[in-house]
Amino acid sequence: MHKSSTLAVPEHSDVPRHLAIIMDGNGRWATQRFLPRTAGHVRGVQTVRRVVEACGRRGVGYLSLFAFSSENWRRPPEEVSRLMRLFVQTLEKEVGKLGDQGVRLRVVGDIAAFEPRLQELIRAAEERTAHNDALHLTVAANYGGRWDILQAMKRLLAERPELASDPQAIDEAALTPYLSMAFAPEPDLFIRTGGEQRISNFLVWQLAYTELYFTERYWPDFSAHDLDEAFEWYRTRERRFGRTSAQLKGSA
Ligand code: IPE
Ligand code: IPE
Ligand code: MG
Repeated sequence: MHKSSTLAVPEHSDVPRHLAIIMDGNGRWATQRFLPRTAGHVRGVQTVRRVVEACGRRGVGYLSLFAFSSENWRRPPEEVSRLMRLFVQTLEKEVGKLGDQGVRLRVVGDIAAFEPRLQELIRAAEERTAHNDALHLTVAANYGGRWDILQAMKRLLAERPELASDPQAIDEAALTPYLSMAFAPEPDLFIRTGGEQRISNFLVWQLAYTELYFTERYWPDFSAHDLDEAFEWYRTRERRFGRTSAQLKGSA
């Protein structure tokens, strides 16, 4: 089990062990070029490939990408169905390659809402890469941070019904194993491309002590160099986890 940042101070590392990204700006990238928004999503897949490779080379252990939020169903139906098709095509095309790179793929989110074929592809991809552990790649699809906390609470109470009459006994350590990212340490670094400075219901529990980095760059343009700049910035952060700066220097 990984340490919770609110229960114990996590270990320090120069390269984030866990990087979480909101891949935003695909639509604006395309609109700027007088292309349909979906052209931006197609280019965004190329960036995913680039960033997965770069993270592998730089020794990132866990990379989590927000691909489709539980609120993205509100988009025009044509865009939603294009995104679903792209998801299917990408899984069909890329899973073999991911396997060769030692990448373990997981999908988190309420995938029961997806069409059966997509659910099947997701399960097959997870199974096929399950023995890898060079890079743990997690794609959040139909994911919402609030959904995650609620599903964790429901599963906890289903497995331990006695807690319903003893709520004082519910603590972080009891709940966190049921969160969908329980297999990973909490993110050290969060990147959001596309200029917005918000969490948009991504990993709301897990980002409690994450360093937040925002860049104007649209996701299709995000390069390995941009990633290195974010890592450079991350290295300059003093991660205090509630302590004072003097305490940290004293222990250095
Ligand atoms: C992020 O890019 C991709 C998804 C949400 C699927 P957007 O589609 O949100 O792009 P912008 O924010 O409209 O530019
Ligand atoms: C967040 O981006 C979700 C993904 C990147 C998948 P959005 O573009 O949907 O977020 P909002 O609506 O601008 O907050
Ligand atoms: Mg957006």
